[in-house]
Amino acid sequence: MSIWKRKPLDLLLAEAADSEKGLKRTLTAWSLVALGIGAIIGAGLFVRTATAAAQSAGPSVTIAFVVAAIGCALAGLCYAELSSSIPISGSAYTYTYATMGEFLAWIIGWDLILEYAVGAATVGIAWSEYLNNLLTNVLHVDPIPYALCHSPFQTSLTGEQGMINLPALFIVTVISLLLIKGIHESAVVNSIIVVVKVLIVILIIVVGWHFINPANHTPYIPPTDVFVDEHGVGHAYGGIMGILGAAGTVFFAFIGFDAVSTAAQETINPKKNMPIGILGSLAVCTVLYILFGHVLTGLEPVEFFRTSGKEASVANAIIHAMGESYNWLAQFITIAILAGFSSVILVMLLGQSRVFYSMGKDGLLPKAFSDLHPKYKTPYKANLAILVIVGAFAAFIPGDIVGDMTSIGTLFAFVLVCISVVILRKKEPNMVREFKTPFVPFVPLLGVFVCCAMMYGLGWTNWLRLFVWMALGVIFYFFYGKKNSRLNNSKE
Ligand code: ALA
Repeated sequence: MSIWKRKPLDLLLAEAADSEKGLKRTLTAWSLVALGIGAIIGAGLFVRTATAAAQSAGPSVTIAFVVAAIGCALAGLCYAELSSSIPISGSAYTYTYATMGEFLAWIIGWDLILEYAVGAATVGIAWSEYLNNLLTNVLHVDPIPYALCHSPFQTSLTGEQGMINLPALFIVTVISLLLIKGIHESAVVNSIIVVVKVLIVILIIVVGWHFINPANHTPYIPPTDVFVDEHGVGHAYGGIMGILGAAGTVFFAFIGFDAVSTAAQETINPKKNMPIGILGSLAVCTVLYILFGHVLTGLEPVEFFRTSGKEASVANAIIHAMGESYNWLAQFITIAILAGFSSVILVMLLGQSRVFYSMGKDGLLPKAFSDLHPKYKTPYKANLAILVIVGAFAAFIPGDIVGDMTSIGTLFAFVLVCISVVILRKKEPNMVREFKTPFVPFVPLLGVFVCCAMMYGLGWTNWLRLFVWMALGVIFYFFYGKKNSRLNNSKE
């Protein structure tokens, strides 16, 4: 029984054909780009940008977006090679099982929980911030009491103590139940949400541009300093380290473009359209993000994003900097953001349930996770288990912490994907690769370097969290997964 045993590619392809029979190839390059943008623009832009500016980089958060985009593009080219050579639905977990063996597949699968499940919790917490904004600023009613919409580890500026984040728990529960009923976002709804999201970003850029106060942009790269957050953790602020830390934080805003690679089976000519979908959605978002970051940090000084503008930062900055006559803009974006965040949560929870479903089927997680609901034909037990995990994070952990955990976990997955491409070129030189990452090993190694630099920038508290998470995963594998793995127990 070897932990390096690989899942045979023909078995994988046969399983995929079996479980996904009847999927029609309807997605074009454009629909993939739209799918990507639908999954990408969310809490990262509308919540984490302000955090990154406040804690790490000030206005130079725009440079952080460039660094994060470079890391994503390099890793994206590696994702594209893997997804075009193994064009079946799935994720980095599936590719790795076929190519690098069970143990590394487990590591990636376990790590993907940080990307999808903890990521969904982060967006749920961001949803909660904007729900309060909806109540006070759009519906003009009382907000939810602080204690009931914040984690026990948070205290307000006026000394109120958080207890539980009920709205965040509510939204992840509702969406999990919808997923159990088998509700997928239809292409039409996705297209509407994509258009609305892009529209509000463009609106904020165009309208906000006139309200940029150059004083807020001076100096553009703040001098090196340390910012101590509400939990007493110091963050490198300003200078290159500030930019790297901010890049790690806003990297969250790019997460999701790899979700495009999971739609390979529904794509017309995946070998050509997949790379266009991945890199195209990334390119569109990068341009929007840089302009958005420039405007947001121009509207208000960094101090604002550390205090009264810390939550629902975009809506608050608009009201504060542009005045009451632009309240309509803040109200419009609040409603749009709530819808947009819901769609991101849906995509993330769906991605997580697919990974749990596959891991259950492979025996690395309890087999019950691959049981389908008798009526709805969805992996409802996986969905319920995910709801418990995501719900616990959403209800009890602060958004900043789960956000950075998502970033560091996903960066780690990207590093592994980049390394896989290099190793596979050596180990499987003849594998069919319709799309080839250019300049191997230069591009993957540069990808590793940039992603590691961002991980470094996220600081030791996040390294420690990642380490503990992965150590738990390794223990779980040796006590459970290895013994129960279907592949390891099959006779050969
Ligand atoms: N990129 C997604 C977001 O920012 C995860 O919400």
